[in-house]
Amino acid sequence: MTQIQANRDFMKCPFPLGDSMKKSDQQAGVAHPPHGKPSVGNLISLKSFETNCPVTNDSYKDLLDIRRSVRVYDENAPMTQEQLAFLLYSIQGIQSHRGSNSAFTLRPVPSGGARHPFEVYIAVRNVDGLEKGIYRYVPTENIGGKAVTVEFLKNLDNHEEQIADMVVGQRWVIAAPVVLFISCVPYKAEWRYVEHAHRIVLVDLGHVGQNAMLSAVALGLGSCCLGAYNQQLCDQLLGLDGQDEYTVYGISVGKETEKTASA
Ligand SMILES: Cc1cc2nc3c(=O)[nH]c(=O)nc-3n(C[C@H](O)[C@H](O)[C@H](O)COP(=O)(O)O)c2cc1C
Repeated sequence: MTQIQANRDFMKCPFPLGDSMKKSDQQAGVAHPPHGKPSVGNLISLKSFETNCPVTNDSYKDLLDIRRSVRVYDENAPMTQEQLAFLLYSIQGIQSHRGSNSAFTLRPVPSGGARHPFEVYIAVRNVDGLEKGIYRYVPTENIGGKAVTVEFLKNLDNHEEQIADMVVGQRWVIAAPVVLFISCVPYKAEWRYVEHAHRIVLVDLGHVGQNAMLSAVALGLGSCCLGAYNQQLCDQLLGLDGQDEYTVYGISVGKETEKTASA
């Protein structure tokens, strides 16, 4: 079979799954995987977007009309903590648990089987009151609430140059105050869907990207999805093993420069 044929087949819906689901770990009674990774770094509670709402545009139609990929950012405009908190909550915040043993989480994005097989890393260059570096969103810290906690992981040796390398030389990304890197933890979906998981994960990922882009517009910011990235370098700099967790998407976010905003 050619690679193209294998990839086309991979994208096709396998439902009804019949007997193949019987071999899932879920069916075998294996406990569900944790909803997020354990934290090892300093936990930082971001300023609340509920107390000081940063949303400047809440007409859904306007959001759809305005959303465009933005690739020219005002490098001097910081993102506020409230903006970052809203952005993170809108893509992966945990609103509630469902199921026996709280096996499922419900979040602002849908996910096949409510598996939400992602982690969100934040390359912070310019956010008010946050040190430059790599952070991870820890939604399990604030289940059912709207507070947002991030975990500080590390500084990069040369933040701007390494970000450019991570996105295979798309140097305009450097000016963004924040670049989100979404990783996939495939077992979270395989636990339920076995070999059928991966197609669903890719569909889930699109929802994450769309919420991020619409939230950016609502916050008066611009964003661009990044499917072109250096897999090995991203995994290495984010501290991922490349097997049980690996990078699947990037999203740059920031204030569009006045020049392109009016173009
Ligand atoms: C999966 C995906 C990957 C993308 N990867 C990149 C990328 O690496 N670099 C880039 O400049 N734009 C990237 N884009 C943005 C597209 O080029 C953009 O969405 C398209 O040109 C349509 O423009 P619009 O978003 O303004 O409607 C990506 C978009 C998607 C959905």
